[in-house]
Amino acid sequence: QTIFRKDYTPPAFLVDTVELGFDLHPERTIVANRITLRQNPASKRRDIVLHGEDIELVQLRMNGQLLGKDDYLLDHATLTIKKAPAQVVLEIETLCAPVQNTTLSGLYVSNGNFFTQCEAEGFRRITFFPDRPDVMAKYTVMLRADKASYPVLLSNGNLIEQGDLDDGRHYAKWEDPFKKPSYLFALVAARLVCQEETFTLADGRDVLLQVWVEEGNLDKTDYAMQSLKNSIRWDEERFNLELDLDRFMIVAVGDFNMGAMENKGLNIFNTKFVLANPRTATDIDYAGIEAVVGHEYFHNWTGNRVTCRDWFQLSLKEGLTVFRDQEFSADMIGTDTGRAVTRIDQVRTLRQAQFPEDAGPMSHPVRPDSFVEINNFYTVTVYEKGAEVVRMYQTLLGRDGFRKGMDLYFKRHDGQAVECDDFRAAMADANGRDLGQFERWYSQAGTPVVTARTRYDAVKRNFDIILSQRCAPSAGQQDKLPFHIPVAVGLLGASGQDLPLTLEGGKHAKGATTIVLELTEQEQIFRFRNVDERPTPSILRDFSAPVVLEYDYTDDELLHLFSHDSDPVNRWEAGQRLAMERLLKLTAQVAAAGGSDANLKLDPTFINAQRAVLTDETLDAAFRELALILPSETIIAEQMDVVDPQAIHTARQFMRRTIGAALKEELIAQYHANQTPGDYSPDALSAGKRALKNLCLSYLMVAPDMAELKLAQQQFEKAGNMTDRSAALVAMIHSGAATGPYLQNFYEDFEGEALVVDKWFAMQAAAPTTNVAAVRQLMAHPAFTLKNPNRARSLIFNFTNANPSQFHAADGSAYDFWAEHVIKLDAINPQVAARLARAMDRWRRYAPALQAKMKQALEKVAARAKLSNDVLEVISKALAN
Ligand code: ARG
Ligand code: ZN
Repeated sequence: QTIFRKDYTPPAFLVDTVELGFDLHPERTIVANRITLRQNPASKRRDIVLHGEDIELVQLRMNGQLLGKDDYLLDHATLTIKKAPAQVVLEIETLCAPVQNTTLSGLYVSNGNFFTQCEAEGFRRITFFPDRPDVMAKYTVMLRADKASYPVLLSNGNLIEQGDLDDGRHYAKWEDPFKKPSYLFALVAARLVCQEETFTLADGRDVLLQVWVEEGNLDKTDYAMQSLKNSIRWDEERFNLELDLDRFMIVAVGDFNMGAMENKGLNIFNTKFVLANPRTATDIDYAGIEAVVGHEYFHNWTGNRVTCRDWFQLSLKEGLTVFRDQEFSADMIGTDTGRAVTRIDQVRTLRQAQFPEDAGPMSHPVRPDSFVEINNFYTVTVYEKGAEVVRMYQTLLGRDGFRKGMDLYFKRHDGQAVECDDFRAAMADANGRDLGQFERWYSQAGTPVVTARTRYDAVKRNFDIILSQRCAPSAGQQDKLPFHIPVAVGLLGASGQDLPLTLEGGKHAKGATTIVLELTEQEQIFRFRNVDERPTPSILRDFSAPVVLEYDYTDDELLHLFSHDSDPVNRWEAGQRLAMERLLKLTAQVAAAGGSDANLKLDPTFINAQRAVLTDETLDAAFRELALILPSETIIAEQMDVVDPQAIHTARQFMRRTIGAALKEELIAQYHANQTPGDYSPDALSAGKRALKNLCLSYLMVAPDMAELKLAQQQFEKAGNMTDRSAALVAMIHSGAATGPYLQNFYEDFEGEALVVDKWFAMQAAAPTTNVAAVRQLMAHPAFTLKNPNRARSLIFNFTNANPSQFHAADGSAYDFWAEHVIKLDAINPQVAARLARAMDRWRRYAPALQAKMKQALEKVAARAKLSNDVLEVISKALAN
């Protein structure tokens, strides 16, 4: 059943207060819910509609009167009271069984402890309630549980009372002073310990910060705590937004569907984004913790204080909050190149995941018009493209203008549930700008393609850039209207310097070297005056819009940009273009040669360009690493009309092997030059060095000789941190060298560390040497379970999503494996199953033989009688579009 944005109606009743009483028991939890409701003046309807799912109604009272079966309508999803009085107190008693709840939505048990996850629609699995974000109420929560098993009882807001009860039970009463939608409710009842600290806010108030984890993990909470403090400071400084509670808690749980959740005052996190020490976590893990801790904290204003009117507006809070966490991470590094490195990572994510989504069967606008299951729309489009849309406001309005817009947004909407349009209006009004056309970024799906042409008039000294735009049709949207696209450009002179720009009709500061062109029509000409020589254009600097840029660069121009562009993002981009051109040619040659790489060649020009970047010590190691990584197999596949995963893999491996051989000396030298001796620190400079060093190692290990193998083995044995240790092991696995003892040794060292065991499965699953039979074997390992999402993702998703040459094995055996596990997972956890289902999104782009097998697998899943809405939506869209 599809739900449409246009069908929105305001709730018939509003809720003022919610009093919840929990008698927690794994098999049988009793929830007593007392809510005060009143008719919504904005609605004419008189029925109270409460949502409820997988819970048993025990008793229902309205204004003190016990209601009988004839007084309400109850089905599997709703409880309706017809023609209710204007003021109502409902007392609802229900039962649920948290330990049976494998969906990890609602109230569930993880490793013997109670947790909740209510976004998007999990609260209805706890009690009957108008479970929609535009119903905001004040909550009081009483928790009761066995004291020995659940010594810690937490909920939103402030702790106002606690004490002992009979029978070894105890209680805690919590009150949240702020109105909130039900999706922000949370409770934790658990055996946990915390790291805590008093922190002084900018206004002088002291607040209590806590990070709660299982006992054995108290040595892994420092970085999360530090990141939380940094986040609080950053939001004060950058946006003048302060923490509005006296206490702020982060709780880590090992079974969790997503990354983390911004419940008011009680953020619940996947352990993956909390726990870290040098022994168990990589640089990437540390960066993830900083970003996610920031993200959830920033939601307190962008999401909680101002929330969404309905779930179609999800990007209002998610796109904005991702943008905020991106800016936070960039500011934490602090340097210009550091900032650019984070930007390049964002571009890679978009190309790896968002562009394919936007071109596939699940394509949807940043603000979708319809959905079957909202959990399927927590997507890279809503999150990452949404963040790009927010970033474009800042590009168009400037940092100060953006800040003015944010201030006005909070001034207007604090305490409200609003729409994406309200955010756009605040940005426009605060800056006196018309952003009407900008709305199309929210309403039109698909990745716009911007095509650039240039012409130079040496006599008049004019340089013209002609920009045009188009966007392919997507489901339900045949014709697209032009977007409002900020295109940042610079012009490079012959010696690589930035030319000062004079744009005809533009009002730009004298001497500006980067100008943001605003492309609003289908085609526009931009004329630069006083240009003495034909320049090399650097277009879409800093990736100023989430588009595909087409421009017929010559190799010489790309080499010029690759060695000189002052914009690091475009400098990197030039290298990617040089590599991509060659990768596509090589792939075609491999395909034509029936899969053989025997006659492939890589030109010295390209190799020399790679050498120059590798050895340029004036560049940050982190930037050099990014410049040397070749586009991924997925990104290459997206450039092809008919995808041949084996040919792509062979061509890319040939290129890596050739670079590894040609630059052997330099790679070894850089490997040694970028060691980080001494105590481990996750700072960007050290992490960059490790990244470059480990990239060097991986190149040397494509076809290693004894000395190179030894290098990897020694690194594995001597590594003082997980970054180096796992990089060495991954390099060994990918080289095809015998790794048995090393894998075993790694497993034995970290058997007790769930997050590291995840890595152990993940690195094997993603290795091109691991076929589907080997994956099945790994599934038989005692440490494997489908019930834990992190574990399922580590093995299964890494195989289906990060190992394309094996997943697309010609016999289709991996597609059967996929179908089997979508079905198995769906019976346990539909949200996770639906994510796995997405692995087939691009099935129509493969060669006919593969396509036919993929279709069979999709149909096999579709034919199942008892599929969740989650999986059904993904599979039917894949088969339909
Ligand atoms: N709001 C959370 C976050 O971004 C995501 C929670 C989504 N959970 C879900 N089951 N759909 O930060
Ligand atoms: Zn979020």
